[in-house]
Amino acid sequence: MDVLAQSRRRRLYEPVLVWQWPIRIFHWVFASAITVLFVTGIYITHPISNATGEAGGLSRMATVRTIHFTAAAVFTIAFFWRVAWFFLGNRYARSGFPQLWLPSWWRSFLRQAWNYLRHDYRDVHLGHNALAGLSYVIVPVLGGAFMMGTGFAMYGESNPGGFWDSLCGWIRPLLGGSFRTHTAHHLVAWFFLVFVIVHVYLVLMNGTQQKNGLISSMISGRKFRRIEDSQRTENDDGQGA
Ligand code: HEM
Ligand code: HEM
Repeated sequence: MDVLAQSRRRRLYEPVLVWQWPIRIFHWVFASAITVLFVTGIYITHPISNATGEAGGLSRMATVRTIHFTAAAVFTIAFFWRVAWFFLGNRYARSGFPQLWLPSWWRSFLRQAWNYLRHDYRDVHLGHNALAGLSYVIVPVLGGAFMMGTGFAMYGESNPGGFWDSLCGWIRPLLGGSFRTHTAHHLVAWFFLVFVIVHVYLVLMNGTQQKNGLISSMISGRKFRRIEDSQRTENDDGQGA
């Protein structure tokens, strides 16, 4: 047995590249865009001071709206970048995807939910677990598509018949008019806040309990797995474990 093989046998853990650079870039660009969109969006609903109509308040609102629309453009590019990487990336780029038609996905989902209810964090995953995968599809993907649709529908109102109005203008009557479109866009924004709080809590909780490099993995791309687990295909399928 050569020296390398002997030293590998002595090690308990080995690093695995889980998140490729396009996923990591996406993650931090997306997280920054959502933070800016949420804060500027709440300002648009509740401007700090414009009751007297003073000019400073109006120009501040114009600046905040410009920042909101710029972050919206970044959000949109990141969104489609990630969708493309779902198909182009490694197996972990597709991990946890809710395969609702597979009994094995449901078993994995129920086991994860039951474990979280009991504060049991021993079930270590390399990719996203089934519950995380479902939450990413519901809030960032479906919620994100809704925010882009309603956002560009509102944006199009300032230029009737223009590009954005032609592309997304039909969404306003579908939701019951302009006011209801604003209300829907506003309400769904709060789901993002709840998502971020739960997401960061679970990442920190899982990371500190499992000690598998989860927290730093969105920067380094690497997680650690026990060498004995790498022999088990179940632990290597990107679906988790
Ligand atoms: C505004 C804040 C945040 C948002 C919107 C957000 C969003 C997301 C999304 C959409 C994913 C899925 C990634 C993918 O498959 O492409 C993800 C995964 C992940 N995020 Fe965040 N994130 C935020 C903050 C953070 C922070 C502060 C940390 C680190 C401490 C973090 C660490 C991670 C990790 C480790 C994963 C992979 C977890 C897993 O295996 O399921 N995130 N995040
Ligand atoms: C990604 C594409 C998005 C676009 C194109 C977009 C566009 C817009 C537009 C045009 C408005 C109305 C501005 C006005 O009336 O002056 C608006 C308001 C708002 N946006 Fe967005 N937005 C997007 C994403 C988001 C996201 C992801 C969030 C939250 C996380 C968000 C939160 C808000 C909030 C809270 C408001 C105020 C709604 C109201 O009370 O009228 N937006 N957005």
